Parts: sequence; C-alpha cells; structure tokens
Amino acid sequence: MVDETSIFIGASRKPDDSYQRAEEVLLRYGNRHGLVTGATGTGKTVSLQILAEGFSNAGVPVFCADIKGDLSGISMMGEAKDFLVKRAGEVKLDPYQFQEFPVIFWDLFGEQGHPIRATISEMGPLLLSRLMNLTEAQEGVMNIAFRIADEEGLLLLDLKDLQALLANIADRADELSARYGNVTRPSVGAIQRTLLVLESQGAANFFGEPALRIADIMRTTRDGRGAISVLAADKLMMNPRLYATFLLWLMSELFEELPEVGDLDQPKLVFFFDEAHLLFEDAPKVLIDRVEQVVRLIRSKGVGVYFVTQNPLDTPEKVLAQLGNRVQHALRAYTPREQQAVRTAADTFRPNPDFDCATAITQLATGEALVSMLEDKGVPAMVQRTLIRPPSSRLGPITPDERRKIIAGSPVTGQYDQVVDRESAFEILQKKAKEAQDAEAQAQQQNSGGSRWTIPGFDDVLGSGNRRSSNRQTVAEAAIKSVVRSVGSSVGRAIVRGILGSLARGR
Ligand SMILES: Nc1ncnc2c1ncn2[C@@H]1O[C@H](COP(=O)(O)OP(=O)(O)OP(=O)(O)O)[C@@H](O)[C@H]1O
Ligand SMILES: [Mg+2]
Repeated sequence: MVDETSIFIGASRKPDDSYQRAEEVLLRYGNRHGLVTGATGTGKTVSLQILAEGFSNAGVPVFCADIKGDLSGISMMGEAKDFLVKRAGEVKLDPYQFQEFPVIFWDLFGEQGHPIRATISEMGPLLLSRLMNLTEAQEGVMNIAFRIADEEGLLLLDLKDLQALLANIADRADELSARYGNVTRPSVGAIQRTLLVLESQGAANFFGEPALRIADIMRTTRDGRGAISVLAADKLMMNPRLYATFLLWLMSELFEELPEVGDLDQPKLVFFFDEAHLLFEDAPKVLIDRVEQVVRLIRSKGVGVYFVTQNPLDTPEKVLAQLGNRVQHALRAYTPREQQAVRTAADTFRPNPDFDCATAITQLATGEALVSMLEDKGVPAMVQRTLIRPPSSRLGPITPDERRKIIAGSPVTGQYDQVVDRESAFEILQKKAKEAQDAEAQAQQQNSGGSRWTIPGFDDVLGSGNRRSSNRQTVAEAAIKSVVRSVGSSVGRAIVRGILGSLARGR
C-alpha cells in the first residue's frame, strides 16, 4: 500500500471501532519531523520499525538507534505469525508482504556493527563539555584549549591528543592565563581526570579516525531503497551522556554538511532519536537552545528528525512544537505527574469530536495509537485512533550469526574497521618535548655522532614529506603507525571537517 507519495502506517477506527480510513505519512512532509511516544511495551519500537520500512521503500535512508536490540529484526524477512496476519486484516493491509531491509549495523564500540567514530575537533568544545559534564570554568578552559590547538596547528583527533594538549596547557598555565584569561592548573587537572573516566568507559574507541562519512549513512541500494543504519545502543545506553552527545553530534554534522534544499518531494534522510529525553535531561539552556535551533533549521536540508520517548513532557516545548507527525501510544495515568503527561499529550493534538483525547490515551491497546500526521499545506490532521500496521520485516532481534553475515556483506566493510592514527597533537607535542630534551642532551654531549635513528623501509611508507625526527621511544610505535597510516584514505578531508565541523563554532 506504499505509493509514491506516502507511507501507510495503519487504519483509524470509528467510534464503534469499525474501520474508518488509512492513515499515512505524506513523504513531502517527512522532513517536518515527528514524535513517537508511549509507555513501556505499548508499541513504540514497532511504530518506529514500520516508519523506517516505509521510508526505506520510498528510497529515503534512515538512521536509528537500537536500544534493546529488538529493532535489528528489520534486516530480516518477517514471518506470517497469527497475530500479525490478524492485524494486517484489521488495517486492510492487503496483500501483507514480507520483506527484509538493507541494513548497515554500526556500533561505537565496534562489536555489533561497524565502528563509528568522530574526531575531537569535530565534536567541538561545547559538546565535549556536555559529554564530560564540565563546570562553566572548566568549559572555559576547554574553549581555550581548542583555540590554542587551532592557533598552534595541533590536530585534535583522539583522546590522547586532548590529554597531551591539556598536559601541555597545564605546564604553560601562567603564560596562557596572561594571554587568554584564567587557565588554572586545578581546572585543567579536573578535565584531565574526567577524560580518564571517559576513557575507562570505552569512549577512546569512539574518538579518532577514520571518522564517519555522512555519505555512508545516506546510501541507497541499486533497487532504489534507502539504507537503514542501525546503531547498536544497548551497551551505549550504560553511558547515556555519550549516547546523547553522539546523536547530537551526528545531527549537527548532518546540519553542517548537507546543503540547503528547501522543500522536497521526500526527505533526504530520516533520523530517529530513541530515548530522546536523554538529550534534554539536565542539559544547560544553551544546549537546549542549540538543539532547538538545529531541529528547526535541519528541515530545509531535507532531514526529518523523529523523537521517540516515553513521555511527551520529556521534550522541551519549543522542540515539541516542531514535531509535526505524531504517534501517541498509551500512557498510564496513576500518579498526578502521569495525569499531567496525559493532559499535555492530549492538548498537543487537534481535537476530534468523536472522542476525548485524554481518556483515549489511557485506553489504547498495544500497537494502537492516537495519530495525527501533517496534511495538505502542512496542517496537522484531526487526531485519529489508529491501529498500527504490522511490520514486513521480522519482529524482534536477530541472532549474532545473522548479524555477522550482514556486517560482512555491508557496503562499508573494510572502511572503518581499522583505526588510523596519523600525526596529531599527541605526536607533535611528544616530538617537541623530545626535541627540547635532545637539544639539551646534545649541548651536554657534543658531537657524539649519529643523532638520527633510521628504520629500514620506514621512509618508503611514510614518504619524505612525513619524515619524522625519530626517537628511541617511538621507533616501534612509528613503524606500526606507518603501516596503519598507509591504509587510511581520508587524510585531507578530516582536516577540513575539523575546522568546520561542530556546533560549537557558533556558525
Ligand atoms: N503494530 C503492531 N502490530 C502488531 N503487534 C504489535 C504492534 N505494535 C506492537 N505490537 C506488539 O507489542 C509488542 C511490544 O511492542 P514494542 O516493542 O514496540 O513496545 P515499546 O513501546 O517499544 O516497548 P519498550 O518501551 O519496552 O521498548 C511487540 O513485540 C508486538 O508483539
Ligand atoms: Mg521499544
């Protein structure tokens, strides 16, 4: 039932519960964002799944996080289970066809999907400070650190680059304070300690190269379907701040990299933000304002953002106001706060005289929702009580074996699997320190001869432009790196992205 211009999502019901009409997302309003809410087990993930299926079939690439692993089934053909076939009948989905979707699995830890990375400079000081939960004073130091890195040409790629830069800043605290304002050793020390914590939580995997190329999440298949990028997020959710910061970074990268396109027949990418409340939980106002701004502006780049969350109260009002396509599953209403959430959710809909919205929200069955999509001229439709269609792909998780096969056959296989560690702040600062040391040693021990180390074959790989003045400590290290580096392909690009690519630069 998917046609050229819309995605079928289910059938609304009349007051006597008989079939009323098909409910659809209009693709031309797919970039006007959306919201899927509901209590645990009410059908949010399945709604996300059928939306992702619909966008993919329409040729729109999708990015989504898989919090519990149950969204991975979208990569496999569905099966004709009784309750699914029954639901298909109820919503007049005929024929009910099964399908597997073109999925690319990603994982910040590189375990359940291709590793996904960003560089420190791409992340920028604002998001990093948020990630590390820094105080205002510490954030000030972080800003200065980025400025120094820019001015002194120090590339910040991974955590050890930032560590090295901070150590260097601590050494020069007095000089730098005079130049940039307050850089105290205790605040630098505090940031360094937070970095260690971050590292122990596995974030070291995430920072570095090769960084994610946005083009790789915007792929389509030869038969014209949009790739569905599924981010494994079960382990990631143990560090909710990393999860939220990462998705925010990705959204801002999309915003920075994609050209202005205005209104299109269909989105260029749809981005599902599951557990969206984590984005806003004790976030400083500046950050919420930035998110609001990005969500508002990213629309004209052809990107639709769909928030998925349990409670509509979790999302700031300014953001909520921009989410045009709504699917509200059941909410509980036992406590006053829950009752408040139900009223808020009900109030956001264009009322339907046939039923009371607030009452309906508490009565919805599993896989049933109040639905209001944008209609003609982008006006929200009158809210309808809607049975959501069953998915065409598998409901529930895939096996580790199935996952391995899909990862092996993915179009980005080999592109991200190896870390590339090229010369950046860490190496440069280390070299500088070493040079200072060497100069001193040389002064003491004149003309001892042969101050330069050489490694056979070393120059062949590195090329003369990259020749380092080697030193004892990094000989073995450098030899390993030179091999890895020759695998990397995106050297120049990453530098450009480093300069332009982050929310924090105030563009
Ligand atoms: N549209 C639907 N058609 C058929 N069955 C559905 C549909 N939606 C939900 N279900 C059934 O309800 C179950 C729970 O749905 P789902 O996993 O989407 O809930 P959820 O809101 O994501 O829960 P949680 O908050 O725990 O993640 C599904 O496994 C499925 O059996
Ligand atoms: Mg779910």
